[in-house]
This record gives sequence, C-alpha cells and structure tokens, in this order.
Amino acid sequence: MIEIGKRLDRPIVLVGLMGVGKSTVGRRLARRLGLSFVDSDAAIEDAAGLSPAEVFERYGESDFRDGERRLVARLVDEGNLRVIATGGGAFVDPRTRELLNARAITIWLDAPVEILAERTSRRDTRAQLRNGDPKSTLERLASERRTAYEQAHIHVKSGAGAHKDVVEAILRALDDYLTGEA
Ligand code: S3P
Repeated sequence: MIEIGKRLDRPIVLVGLMGVGKSTVGRRLARRLGLSFVDSDAAIEDAAGLSPAEVFERYGESDFRDGERRLVARLVDEGNLRVIATGGGAFVDPRTRELLNARAITIWLDAPVEILAERTSRRDTRAQLRNGDPKSTLERLASERRTAYEQAHIHVKSGAGAHKDVVEAILRALDDYLTGEA
C-alpha cells in the first residue's frame, strides 16, 4: 500500500455515472496520493465559458461530446501525473475510452441507482436530469453504459457510505492493480 503515488507512471481517471462522487472522491484521492486534481466538466466550463448543462442545452449533446473528447485528449496529452474526474458520458465515447485505457489507469466508480438519484437531486446542474423522472433516466443510462464502464481497468463499488471509505477502497484496488502489473 505504501508509496502508491511513486509507483504511478500515468494519470488516474475516474469514470462512472452522475452523482457517484467522481469529483469529491477524485479530489480526496489526489490529496492522499500527493497529486493534483482536475475535473473535466470544470475544464470544459473554463474553456467554453459555459457550464456543461448550458453547452448541452444551447448546442446539443453531440457538440458537447465533441468538445469533451478534445478536452479529455488534451488533459491526457499534457502528460501530468494527476487524478482526472470525467463527466459521466466521456468514457462511453469509444475514442475517449480507447485513449484513456491506453494512457491512464481508469477506475469505474459504481453505485446503486437509488443512491445516484438521491445525490443528483440535491443540485439541478445536469441537463439530462431536467426533463422526465431522474431515477428512470439514471436507470436507462446505467444499463446503456454498463458495457462501456466495465472496460475500465479497475471497478470500485461505492454505497451510501462516506467518500473517505471509497478513497480507501480505491487505494487498495490501485495497490493490487500496480502489483499485478509489476
Ligand atoms: C453527463 C454527466 C455530467 C456532465 C454532463 C453529461 C453524462 O458530468 O458531463 O451533464 O452524460 O453523464 P457528471 O458525471 O460529473 O455529473
């Protein structure tokens, strides 16, 4: 378990559905590993001057995905050893998934839809959850995206517990993964 940060040679990328805690967990994980942290949604907002929801609503999902693909590629190309939290749909794009699996260690954070529905209901920041029943939308996305998320290198299940426990579970899983690679 010791010195995981020193055994890493590429960025760690968190993938998974909205509300699973990629940003909060990612920030804590980065701190534990002594790495910097970047959130792809926040980077899109910096680059576009619009939030992901605004890009979605003004230009549509396909333009958002194009921008997201370019931005994630740029974050990886910068070559920094860091923790990157991606927006929930980024890893579903085949090109982004291929790039991330080749150049980073990808971690699928996974939680039951009930928990995601509860967490995402606290803030109205996701364009896809603004129309219709958010829980049904999350259920649909969970089933549509499962085969993409399953391709991440590491799968970590998180429940309703504290984010710090998820960070510990990730550190154990990373330790195993790096040991297997060595
Ligand atoms: C999306 C998830 C959002 C954001 C955009 C699209 C998705 O990010 O990128 O609303 O398609 O799952 P979070 O997963 O950080 O909420």
